[in-house]
Amino acid sequence: MKKVIAYTRVSKSVREQLKKKYEVTYFENYEYINDPEFLKALKEASGIIGLELKVTEELLNYAPNLEIVSNVSVGYDNLDINAMTKRNIMATNTPGVLTNTVADAVFGIMLATARRIPELNTFVKNGNWKEYLQLEHFGTDVHNKTIGIIGMGSIGEAIAKRSHFGFDMNVLYHNRSRKEHVEKVYNATYCSLNELLEQSDFVCLMVPSTPETERMIGENEFKRMKQSAIFINGSRGKNVDEKALYQALINNEILAAGLDVFEKEPVNPDNPLLKLDNVIALPHIGAATRENELAMSMLAAKNLEMGLLGKCPPNIINREAYYDDHN
Ligand code: GLV
Repeated sequence: MKKVIAYTRVSKSVREQLKKKYEVTYFENYEYINDPEFLKALKEASGIIGLELKVTEELLNYAPNLEIVSNVSVGYDNLDINAMTKRNIMATNTPGVLTNTVADAVFGIMLATARRIPELNTFVKNGNWKEYLQLEHFGTDVHNKTIGIIGMGSIGEAIAKRSHFGFDMNVLYHNRSRKEHVEKVYNATYCSLNELLEQSDFVCLMVPSTPETERMIGENEFKRMKQSAIFINGSRGKNVDEKALYQALINNEILAAGLDVFEKEPVNPDNPLLKLDNVIALPHIGAATRENELAMSMLAAKNLEMGLLGKCPPNIINREAYYDDHN
């Protein structure tokens, strides 16, 4: 029986299924490199399945039998793909299944930030609602506004759909390539990053985390945004310069920010962004629904099983690792 490590977010029912075919060891936390149990399991593992394990050269040195790492996420910035490919270790992710779930979350965060929902929830629960709500607590409309979506992958497109059909918004987008379909169906306008930043009421960042996107939104980008702009990050924390965001918020260069992701996760409780009323902070909830956890775990398990059978997994990221080994 091949040995598999499951860690963090692999749903229990999927782990039970995997146990019928593999010897599965489950780890719940990330502190792997100092955990002798984890290192022992790693030495023998043919497969790894889970969320956000940092797969580095160092980790791979401890894993001589590894054939595949199946990420239970669409983002794979936690994987050193080059190092894996060099060793013919397959990497897979779970695109598609989470698209609508993440788009719902981004919309929720956008509405919550614009209408100040968490802040006013606390206001009521603390017993401060004693008279008609005063102007100082009023929010900002979302419908009929302009949204600028940076990164028009499938999640960006699902956000464009909600914006256009649900909220009558004017949709701008910036992407590596034009998406004719999105322009036609959601009446979206392609523009340069600077144009998007200057014209949007809501700037919504949805790009993957790569060396090219690291801190792509920083001081200059915040300066270009409207003073009334609301910035939403539903992608990865590393894509934003958090210090510049903090400065933009305290200097009233932008109105507010809704953040599902942070440069360091879990976010440090001392992160100054958490002290600001005009920041909505969430613990990376994008894909985190019960339904989606199961769908993602099932897809990741399928990828893992195909890989361990020597077949090409449907969501392989580094196809070279498969071909080198099997052709
Ligand atoms: C969520 O952030 C994912 O990458 O799946």
